[in-house]
Amino acid sequence: MPIFDFAVGQTNPETFPTAALQQAAVAAIAAEAEALNRYPGGKGHAGLRRLMAERESERESVDVNPENIALMNGSMQAVTLAGQALTNGPGDIVITEKYTYSGTIAAYRSLGLAMHGMPVDEEGMKVDFLATHLAALPQKPKFIYTLTSYQNPTGVTMSRARRLALIEVAREYDLPVVEDNCYGDVHFEGEVEPALYALDPDPRHIYIGSLSKIFAPGMRLGYLLAESPFFEQIVSRRHDAGSNYFAAAVLAEFYKNDLWGHCVAANQVLKQKRDRLLTALEQSLKDVCVWSEPTGGLFLWLRLPPDIDLVTLKATAAERGFYYADGQDFNVEGLPVHYLRLAFGHVPDEQIDLGIPVLAECIAQCRRSNAQPEYASLFDDPGL
Ligand SMILES: Cc1ncc(COP(=O)(O)O)c(C=O)c1O
Repeated sequence: MPIFDFAVGQTNPETFPTAALQQAAVAAIAAEAEALNRYPGGKGHAGLRRLMAERESERESVDVNPENIALMNGSMQAVTLAGQALTNGPGDIVITEKYTYSGTIAAYRSLGLAMHGMPVDEEGMKVDFLATHLAALPQKPKFIYTLTSYQNPTGVTMSRARRLALIEVAREYDLPVVEDNCYGDVHFEGEVEPALYALDPDPRHIYIGSLSKIFAPGMRLGYLLAESPFFEQIVSRRHDAGSNYFAAAVLAEFYKNDLWGHCVAANQVLKQKRDRLLTALEQSLKDVCVWSEPTGGLFLWLRLPPDIDLVTLKATAAERGFYYADGQDFNVEGLPVHYLRLAFGHVPDEQIDLGIPVLAECIAQCRRSNAQPEYASLFDDPGL
């Protein structure tokens, strides 16, 4: 039976630069043999930090100091350390999008943090709702965690107006904002929206980047970009003697002469996959579902008809070899929702073409009626 795996967010193995990485590893070992005998320390490999500062400053058109960057073992480490450093313990409130990365939900839940999820629409977090929520809260939240571009799971990007509004609200309530931009360079089309730190040079803007999405998650490299005192507060929470220096040295070698070439080439292929997926959905599901049209990232968010039993659909799809991530996994309240996430970045073209009709058949089979569902939009679910 063919397997249609749209469940796990991964980069595309078809564009993995094996030969260039092999060469980079050989060169890095020769150049860094001495340094590999030492612990890397809190900030990590200076060469890769310089390159990541260059990456940020070229994308954002502002100066970025490599001394404000600390490499992390995946951006997830920065997400977790920020959660630890900015809160005092269980019961503290963190503002997030209503749908956010399941890894963050798990990490913050294990810290006992209370995540208050703000509704999301096509322009990202609804900041007017956030303002009303903050005004009514008896307890001040510790920080805002937001996925501004090509959000996981919805694929939406926060508009410029919303970013500016978020900055204003955060300033009014004196809240640090942790911006997780780990998909920021997985960009397909349109303007790249600026990071919050580029819109407003305020030390309360804490920023997280990753190499998992533009290169590969197996490298386990990401970074924190922050200013005093948050930079020190967050980095001092790590007790792992630094990020993998070998992986950092290899990637510094890989990127030293061309920071963007691989990413641009990989994005073109990802965009084709996104287009293929949109075409397949249009052909098979346009009368039954609505979905996001991400301009970057690895995910598409699909809304299911309300008359579907979610558990039956999951089982029926799995029987046909079709796997997806449940909307519930990304809901900060952990409640079942009539949405699912399709990860398309690693799925072979043929599986996209053949898989979506299978999903459509499973959806048809699991509905209680044939009526065309009435959605005003992707996000207008009154139950949310
Ligand atoms: C929004 C978001 N943040 C962080 C991560 C963690 O990525 P990594 O630790 O591989 O950089 C992910 C992974 O999927 C993610 O989607």
